[in-house]
Amino acid sequence: MKSTTIGFIGAGNMANGLIRGLIAKGTRPENIWASDLDESKLKLLSQDCGICTGNNSDIASNANVIVLAVKPQVMRDVCKALAADLDRRGALLVSIAAGITTAHLESWFGESAAIVRCMPNTPALVGMGASGLFANARVTEEQKLLAQGIISTVGFATWVDADSDIDIVTAVSGSGPAYFFLFMEAMQATAKEMGLSEDLARALTYHTAAGAAALAQYSEDDIATLRRNVTSPGGTTEQAILQFEDGDLRGLVAKALKAARTRSVELAEETDST
Ligand SMILES: NC(=O)c1ccc[n+]([C@@H]2O[C@H](COP(=O)([O-])OP(=O)(O)OC[C@H]3O[C@@H](n4cnc5c(N)ncnc54)[C@H](OP(=O)(O)O)[C@@H]3O)[C@@H](O)[C@H]2O)c1
Repeated sequence: MKSTTIGFIGAGNMANGLIRGLIAKGTRPENIWASDLDESKLKLLSQDCGICTGNNSDIASNANVIVLAVKPQVMRDVCKALAADLDRRGALLVSIAAGITTAHLESWFGESAAIVRCMPNTPALVGMGASGLFANARVTEEQKLLAQGIISTVGFATWVDADSDIDIVTAVSGSGPAYFFLFMEAMQATAKEMGLSEDLARALTYHTAAGAAALAQYSEDDIATLRRNVTSPGGTTEQAILQFEDGDLRGLVAKALKAARTRSVELAEETDST
Protein backbone atom coordinates (compact mmCIF):
# COMPACT_ATOMS: atom_id res chain seq x y z
CA MET A 1 0.00 0.00 0.00
CA LYS A 2 2.97 2.30 0.59
CA SER A 3 3.45 2.92 -3.16
CA THR A 4 -0.27 3.23 -3.99
CA THR A 5 -1.72 6.68 -4.60
CA ILE A 6 -4.99 7.10 -2.73
CA GLY A 7 -7.30 9.96 -3.68
CA PHE A 8 -10.22 11.29 -1.65
CA ILE A 9 -13.12 13.03 -3.36
CA GLY A 10 -14.57 15.11 -0.51
CA ALA A 11 -12.35 16.08 2.42
CA GLY A 12 -14.96 16.20 5.20
CA ASN A 13 -15.22 14.31 8.49
CA MET A 14 -14.85 10.75 7.26
CA ALA A 15 -12.09 11.53 4.76
CA ASN A 16 -10.18 13.40 7.48
CA GLY A 17 -10.38 10.37 9.77
CA LEU A 18 -9.18 8.03 7.01
CA ILE A 19 -6.37 10.33 5.84
CA ARG A 20 -5.06 10.77 9.38
CA GLY A 21 -5.42 7.01 9.98
CA LEU A 22 -3.47 6.20 6.80
CA ILE A 23 -0.63 8.56 7.74
CA ALA A 24 -0.52 7.23 11.30
CA LYS A 25 -0.17 3.69 9.88
CA GLY A 26 2.71 4.64 7.56
CA THR A 27 1.26 5.79 4.20
CA ARG A 28 3.48 8.56 2.84
CA PRO A 29 1.58 11.91 2.67
CA GLU A 30 2.76 12.46 -0.94
CA ASN A 31 0.81 9.29 -1.86
CA ILE A 32 -2.45 10.80 -0.62
CA TRP A 33 -4.55 13.27 -2.62
CA ALA A 34 -7.74 15.06 -1.62
CA SER A 35 -10.22 17.33 -3.37
CA ASP A 36 -13.11 19.33 -1.96
CA LEU A 37 -15.31 22.28 -2.93
CA ASP A 38 -14.15 23.97 0.28
CA GLU A 39 -10.58 25.18 -0.24
CA SER A 40 -10.11 25.86 3.49
CA LYS A 41 -10.55 22.12 4.29
CA LEU A 42 -7.87 21.24 1.74
CA LYS A 43 -5.50 23.93 3.04
CA LEU A 44 -5.85 22.61 6.59
CA LEU A 45 -5.24 19.00 5.51
CA SER A 46 -2.24 19.99 3.42
CA GLN A 47 -0.76 22.05 6.31
CA ASP A 48 -1.53 19.43 8.99
CA CYS A 49 -0.71 16.26 7.07
CA GLY A 50 1.39 17.33 4.07
CA ILE A 51 -0.91 15.58 1.57
CA CYS A 52 -1.43 16.70 -2.05
CA THR A 53 -4.58 18.59 -2.92
CA GLY A 54 -6.34 19.36 -6.18
CA ASN A 55 -9.68 19.08 -7.93
CA ASN A 56 -11.67 15.94 -8.78
CA SER A 57 -9.98 15.65 -12.20
CA ASP A 58 -6.54 15.72 -10.53
CA ILE A 59 -7.65 12.80 -8.34
CA ALA A 60 -8.97 10.94 -11.40
CA SER A 61 -5.63 11.28 -13.15
CA ASN A 62 -3.35 10.56 -10.16
CA ALA A 63 -4.95 7.98 -7.88
CA ASN A 64 -4.93 4.18 -8.09
CA VAL A 65 -7.61 4.05 -5.43
CA ILE A 66 -10.34 6.69 -5.29
CA VAL A 67 -12.34 7.01 -2.08
CA LEU A 68 -15.71 8.63 -2.74
CA ALA A 69 -16.38 10.56 0.47
CA VAL A 70 -19.01 13.14 -0.47
CA LYS A 71 -22.58 13.24 0.85
CA PRO A 72 -25.01 10.75 -0.79
CA GLN A 73 -27.09 13.57 -2.33
CA VAL A 74 -24.19 14.71 -4.53
CA MET A 75 -22.78 11.25 -5.33
CA ARG A 76 -24.62 10.86 -8.64
CA ASP A 77 -23.28 14.11 -10.13
CA VAL A 78 -19.79 13.60 -8.70
CA CYS A 79 -19.55 10.02 -10.00
CA LYS A 80 -20.88 10.81 -13.46
CA ALA A 81 -18.40 13.68 -13.88
CA LEU A 82 -15.57 11.52 -12.54
CA ALA A 83 -16.45 8.60 -14.85
CA ALA A 84 -15.76 10.83 -17.85
CA ASP A 85 -12.31 11.75 -16.42
CA LEU A 86 -11.41 8.22 -15.34
CA ASP A 87 -11.53 6.88 -18.86
CA ARG A 88 -9.86 3.47 -18.92
CA ARG A 89 -7.40 3.94 -16.06
CA GLY A 90 -8.96 1.15 -14.04
CA ALA A 91 -8.65 2.80 -10.63
CA LEU A 92 -10.31 1.02 -7.72
CA LEU A 93 -13.36 2.97 -6.53
CA VAL A 94 -14.26 2.81 -2.84
CA SER A 95 -17.56 4.43 -1.90
CA ILE A 96 -18.37 5.19 1.72
CA ALA A 97 -21.67 6.95 0.92
CA ALA A 98 -24.74 5.74 2.79
CA GLY A 99 -27.62 4.47 0.66
CA ILE A 100 -25.63 4.33 -2.59
CA THR A 101 -25.62 0.72 -3.80
CA THR A 102 -23.07 -1.09 -5.94
CA ALA A 103 -25.70 -1.14 -8.73
CA HIS A 104 -25.91 2.68 -8.60
CA LEU A 105 -22.13 2.94 -8.79
CA GLU A 106 -21.96 0.46 -11.68
CA SER A 107 -24.62 2.39 -13.56
CA TRP A 108 -22.56 5.61 -13.22
CA PHE A 109 -19.05 4.18 -13.74
CA GLY A 110 -19.87 1.28 -16.07
CA GLU A 111 -19.97 -2.44 -15.33
CA SER A 112 -16.24 -2.87 -15.95
CA ALA A 113 -15.37 -0.63 -12.97
CA ALA A 114 -13.83 -2.23 -9.88
CA ILE A 115 -16.04 -1.04 -7.03
CA VAL A 116 -15.99 -1.52 -3.26
CA ARG A 117 -18.99 -0.31 -1.27
CA CYS A 118 -18.15 0.40 2.34
CA MET A 119 -20.26 1.36 5.34
CA PRO A 120 -18.10 2.88 8.09
CA ASN A 121 -19.27 4.51 11.32
CA THR A 122 -18.33 7.62 13.30
CA PRO A 123 -16.01 5.96 15.86
CA ALA A 124 -13.69 5.74 12.82
CA LEU A 125 -12.93 9.38 13.67
CA VAL A 126 -11.09 8.15 16.78
CA GLY A 127 -9.65 5.05 15.11
CA MET A 128 -12.28 2.70 16.58
CA GLY A 129 -14.64 2.28 13.66
CA ALA A 130 -16.49 -0.84 12.52
CA SER A 131 -16.96 -1.11 8.76
CA GLY A 132 -18.55 -3.61 6.38
CA LEU A 133 -17.26 -3.85 2.81
CA PHE A 134 -18.70 -5.40 -0.35
CA ALA A 135 -16.68 -5.87 -3.56
CA ASN A 136 -18.18 -6.24 -7.04
CA ALA A 137 -16.97 -8.99 -9.39
CA ARG A 138 -14.34 -6.71 -10.99
CA VAL A 139 -12.35 -6.22 -7.79
CA THR A 140 -9.19 -8.35 -7.69
CA GLU A 141 -7.85 -10.05 -4.54
CA GLU A 142 -5.02 -7.52 -4.49
CA GLN A 143 -7.51 -4.64 -4.66
CA LYS A 144 -9.57 -6.22 -1.86
CA LEU A 145 -6.49 -6.24 0.35
CA LEU A 146 -5.84 -2.63 -0.57
CA ALA A 147 -9.40 -1.50 0.24
CA GLN A 148 -9.46 -3.40 3.54
CA GLY A 149 -6.01 -2.00 4.35
CA ILE A 150 -7.27 1.57 3.88
CA ILE A 151 -10.49 1.17 5.86
CA SER A 152 -8.86 -0.81 8.66
CA THR A 153 -6.54 2.13 9.44
CA VAL A 154 -9.57 3.53 11.32
CA GLY A 155 -10.76 0.34 13.02
CA PHE A 156 -12.30 -3.06 12.35
CA ALA A 157 -13.14 -3.76 8.69
CA THR A 158 -14.69 -6.93 7.29
CA TRP A 159 -16.20 -8.22 4.04
CA VAL A 160 -19.84 -9.14 3.46
CA ASP A 161 -21.08 -11.50 0.73
CA ALA A 162 -23.86 -9.43 -0.79
CA ASP A 163 -24.54 -5.78 -1.47
CA SER A 164 -27.84 -6.14 0.45
CA ASP A 165 -25.84 -7.17 3.55
CA ILE A 166 -24.63 -3.55 3.67
CA ASP A 167 -28.20 -2.58 4.67
CA ILE A 168 -27.78 -4.84 7.71
CA VAL A 169 -24.31 -3.45 8.43
CA THR A 170 -25.89 0.03 8.25
CA ALA A 171 -28.54 -0.97 10.81
CA VAL A 172 -26.02 -2.61 13.17
CA SER A 173 -22.73 -0.69 13.10
CA GLY A 174 -23.44 2.30 10.80
CA SER A 175 -26.30 3.61 12.96
CA GLY A 176 -25.21 1.60 16.02
CA PRO A 177 -23.17 4.28 17.81
CA ALA A 178 -26.37 6.36 18.16
CA TYR A 179 -28.13 3.47 19.98
CA PHE A 180 -25.37 3.34 22.58
CA PHE A 181 -25.35 7.15 22.85
CA LEU A 182 -29.11 7.09 23.53
CA PHE A 183 -28.66 4.47 26.25
CA MET A 184 -25.79 6.50 27.74
CA GLU A 185 -27.85 9.70 27.62
CA ALA A 186 -30.63 7.96 29.56
CA MET A 187 -28.19 6.55 32.15
CA GLN A 188 -26.50 9.91 32.61
CA ALA A 189 -29.82 11.77 33.01
CA THR A 190 -31.10 9.28 35.59
CA ALA A 191 -27.83 9.33 37.53
CA LYS A 192 -28.22 13.11 37.76
CA GLU A 193 -31.91 12.87 38.65
CA MET A 194 -31.02 10.50 41.50
CA GLY A 195 -28.59 13.06 42.94
CA LEU A 196 -25.13 12.86 41.34
CA SER A 197 -23.47 15.95 39.90
CA GLU A 198 -23.51 16.37 36.10
CA ASP A 199 -19.75 15.71 35.90
CA LEU A 200 -19.90 12.57 38.00
CA ALA A 201 -22.96 11.24 36.14
CA ARG A 202 -21.14 11.75 32.83
CA ALA A 203 -17.82 10.26 33.99
CA LEU A 204 -19.43 7.15 35.49
CA THR A 205 -21.57 6.60 32.37
CA TYR A 206 -18.68 7.02 29.90
CA HIS A 207 -16.25 4.86 31.88
CA THR A 208 -18.87 2.15 32.37
CA ALA A 209 -19.68 2.07 28.64
CA ALA A 210 -16.00 1.97 27.65
CA GLY A 211 -15.21 -0.67 30.30
CA ALA A 212 -18.15 -2.90 29.34
CA ALA A 213 -17.21 -2.70 25.63
CA ALA A 214 -13.56 -3.53 26.39
CA LEU A 215 -14.52 -6.43 28.67
CA ALA A 216 -16.92 -7.81 26.02
CA GLN A 217 -14.20 -7.53 23.37
CA TYR A 218 -11.30 -9.01 25.33
CA SER A 219 -12.94 -11.55 27.65
CA GLU A 220 -13.08 -15.20 26.66
CA ASP A 221 -16.67 -15.31 27.94
CA ASP A 222 -19.57 -14.37 25.67
CA ILE A 223 -21.71 -11.32 26.51
CA ALA A 224 -24.57 -13.34 28.02
CA THR A 225 -22.08 -14.95 30.46
CA LEU A 226 -20.57 -11.56 31.31
CA ARG A 227 -24.08 -10.23 32.00
CA ARG A 228 -24.95 -13.23 34.20
CA ASN A 229 -21.64 -12.78 36.07
CA VAL A 230 -22.73 -9.34 37.31
CA THR A 231 -26.34 -10.36 37.94
CA SER A 232 -26.30 -12.07 41.34
CA PRO A 233 -29.63 -13.57 42.40
CA GLY A 234 -31.36 -11.13 44.74
CA GLY A 235 -28.88 -8.35 43.91
CA THR A 236 -29.18 -4.84 42.52
CA THR A 237 -28.32 -5.65 38.88
CA GLU A 238 -31.04 -8.30 38.80
CA GLN A 239 -33.63 -5.68 39.73
CA ALA A 240 -32.51 -3.44 36.86
CA ILE A 241 -32.35 -6.28 34.34
CA LEU A 242 -35.87 -7.38 35.31
CA GLN A 243 -37.10 -3.90 34.39
CA PHE A 244 -35.39 -4.10 30.98
CA GLU A 245 -36.80 -7.58 30.29
CA ASP A 246 -40.30 -6.54 31.45
CA GLY A 247 -40.12 -3.61 29.05
CA ASP A 248 -39.07 -6.03 26.26
CA LEU A 249 -35.76 -4.30 25.59
CA ARG A 250 -34.70 -7.16 23.29
CA GLY A 251 -37.90 -6.85 21.21
CA LEU A 252 -37.41 -3.08 21.01
CA VAL A 253 -33.80 -3.49 19.84
CA ALA A 254 -34.92 -5.96 17.14
CA LYS A 255 -37.67 -3.55 16.01
CA ALA A 256 -35.23 -0.64 15.93
CA LEU A 257 -32.56 -2.45 13.88
CA LYS A 258 -35.13 -3.78 11.41
CA ALA A 259 -36.57 -0.25 10.97
CA ALA A 260 -33.04 1.05 10.26
CA ARG A 261 -32.46 -1.69 7.67
CA THR A 262 -35.81 -0.93 5.97
CA ARG A 263 -34.89 2.77 5.81
CA SER A 264 -31.52 1.91 4.30
CA VAL A 265 -33.27 -0.07 1.53
CA GLU A 266 -35.76 2.79 0.96
CA LEU A 267 -32.99 5.40 0.77
CA ALA A 268 -31.24 3.35 -1.92
CA GLU A 269 -34.52 3.00 -3.85
CA GLU A 270 -35.01 6.77 -3.71
CA THR A 271 -31.65 7.37 -5.43
CA ASP A 272 -31.86 7.93 -9.17
CA SER A 273 -29.54 5.41 -10.84
CA THR A 274 -29.60 7.03 -14.30
N1 LIG B 1 -20.30 10.67 9.19
C1 LIG B 1 -20.80 9.44 9.36
O1 LIG B 1 -21.26 9.01 10.42
C2 LIG B 1 -20.80 8.49 8.23
C3 LIG B 1 -20.93 7.13 8.50
C4 LIG B 1 -20.97 6.26 7.42
C5 LIG B 1 -20.86 6.77 6.14
N2 LIG B 1 -20.74 8.10 5.95
C6 LIG B 1 -20.68 8.59 4.58
O2 LIG B 1 -19.45 9.26 4.38
C7 LIG B 1 -19.65 10.27 3.38
C8 LIG B 1 -18.99 11.54 3.86
O3 LIG B 1 -19.60 11.93 5.08
P1 LIG B 1 -18.96 13.11 5.94
O4 LIG B 1 -19.67 13.12 7.23
O5 LIG B 1 -17.48 13.02 5.89
O6 LIG B 1 -19.44 14.38 5.05
P2 LIG B 1 -18.86 15.85 5.01
O7 LIG B 1 -18.10 16.15 6.26
O8 LIG B 1 -19.98 16.76 4.58
O9 LIG B 1 -17.78 15.77 3.83
C9 LIG B 1 -18.12 15.76 2.48
C10 LIG B 1 -17.27 16.83 1.80
O10 LIG B 1 -17.45 16.72 0.39
C11 LIG B 1 -17.44 18.03 -0.16
N3 LIG B 1 -18.03 18.05 -1.49
C12 LIG B 1 -19.33 18.28 -1.84
N4 LIG B 1 -19.45 18.23 -3.19
C13 LIG B 1 -18.22 17.95 -3.69
C14 LIG B 1 -17.70 17.78 -5.00
N5 LIG B 1 -18.48 17.92 -6.07
N6 LIG B 1 -16.39 17.49 -5.13
C15 LIG B 1 -15.57 17.38 -4.06
N7 LIG B 1 -16.01 17.56 -2.80
C16 LIG B 1 -17.31 17.83 -2.62
C17 LIG B 1 -18.23 18.80 0.86
O11 LIG B 1 -18.03 20.18 0.68
P3 LIG B 1 -19.21 21.18 1.15
O12 LIG B 1 -19.38 20.97 2.62
O13 LIG B 1 -18.69 22.51 0.77
O14 LIG B 1 -20.44 20.75 0.37
C18 LIG B 1 -17.66 18.26 2.16
O15 LIG B 1 -16.51 18.97 2.56
C19 LIG B 1 -21.16 10.41 3.18
O16 LIG B 1 -21.54 9.88 1.93
C20 LIG B 1 -21.77 9.60 4.29
O17 LIG B 1 -22.96 8.95 3.90
C21 LIG B 1 -20.68 8.97 6.96
